[in-house]
Amino acid sequence: MNIAIQPAPRFQGELTLPPDKAICHRVLFAAALAEGSSEISPWPDAEDCQRTLELVQRIGVTAERSGQTIRLHSRGMRAPSQELFCGESGTTLRLAAGVLAGQPFISRLTAAPSLSRRPMRRIVEPLERMGARVDGAPGAAEVHPPLTIHGRRPLQPVRYEMPVASAQVKSAVLFAGTAAEGPTTVVEPYPTRDHTERMLRHCGLRVERQGSAISVTPGPLRAPGRCEIPGDFSSAAFFLVAASCVPGARVKLRGVSLNPTRTGLLPILARMGARIAAAPAAEEWEPRGLLEAEHRPLRGTTVSAAEAAGIIDELPILMVAASCAEGLTRLEGLGELRVKETDRIRSMVDGLRRLGAQIQETGAASVEIIGGKLTGTAVESAGDHRTAMSLAVAGLIAQGPTVIRGAECVSKSFPGFFDALASLAGSSTVKTVDSA
Ligand code: S3P
Repeated sequence: MNIAIQPAPRFQGELTLPPDKAICHRVLFAAALAEGSSEISPWPDAEDCQRTLELVQRIGVTAERSGQTIRLHSRGMRAPSQELFCGESGTTLRLAAGVLAGQPFISRLTAAPSLSRRPMRRIVEPLERMGARVDGAPGAAEVHPPLTIHGRRPLQPVRYEMPVASAQVKSAVLFAGTAAEGPTTVVEPYPTRDHTERMLRHCGLRVERQGSAISVTPGPLRAPGRCEIPGDFSSAAFFLVAASCVPGARVKLRGVSLNPTRTGLLPILARMGARIAAAPAAEEWEPRGLLEAEHRPLRGTTVSAAEAAGIIDELPILMVAASCAEGLTRLEGLGELRVKETDRIRSMVDGLRRLGAQIQETGAASVEIIGGKLTGTAVESAGDHRTAMSLAVAGLIAQGPTVIRGAECVSKSFPGFFDALASLAGSSTVKTVDSA
């Protein structure tokens, strides 16, 4: 699918974002580990969450859908009778590996082509240290899916210092830690999203953080129960940047996750000159609230590696903000972007350059951007949802029409993205076209 984007004549209105995909994955895996009933509402129609839902159904969870609610029931985990297909979802595969490592059976996690190229040594190493055996596709230095997990219960508790800042790796080890003989500790090089820690606490386990070390004390999990999922901040980010960059724009985003380990983009945009107000609602297991953004001229900034780890999924859209900001923006610590659905440094540098941005890689993990005018043209999603959505926002700001090729990939996280964009920018601004 190709989508044509015209320069936005306006960008105004209110929006409720799709439910947070990262939180939904955690609820599903916690429901599989627990015994009892739970509910996810609203259910995101994102493909990645669908893969986790199918997976937990194969290991003992029953699920029934009623409107936008999914009711889950579990009577304990059972060995799957077939392969567990994770599609393109890295979170499904890596978290499942942690959950399954502590089960007394063998399971096999398979993946679609883009996920089959992504690195898995990062989870294999800690899970094997805990006593599970994980066989990957035979290859060179890296380990790739499919993964065969020879689970073991109990696992050995470990203290694991993660070589990369990754919430997926942290979560795999913490989920495995629920089946260990004693407390398991993960040490993060930089803080990453803490949804797994919150979910496990919500299910009655002791999870403590001391500096950069997070420990889980094993025990039986209580079912997560009724979980109302806040809007996805990573999806909100596209609209916050669009509102900051389109002259005269003003938007309200309701019920968005305000988990502080997810909102690192807000202080960065604030120092670039953006005007975004957050109004938190009453505190729940996962914080949420209202975000209001309006247009302001932006200026360049420097983003450190520590900051980058906390805004890993927002870095592509931050590159778009930097492209329309005055002056120089330096982004550091971007190495993990190389191993997402595609090499997101490459896909964003290519796309923004085609639109006329002054952007260059200044090392394997850093980028510099000098803001200026963008001019519409045809650009490629590279099969990556966040690249497609970021370049669509760039299209709103560019002069003349922009075409996003391969835009169907947005359904991985946000199937209604282009409708949402059209609702704020006008229906003639966003259109499906046959060919570019
Ligand atoms: C996620 C963690 C991040 C992020 C991904 C979702 C999660 O991946 O990019 O979209 O839900 O834990 P890494 O752990 O590989 O950084």
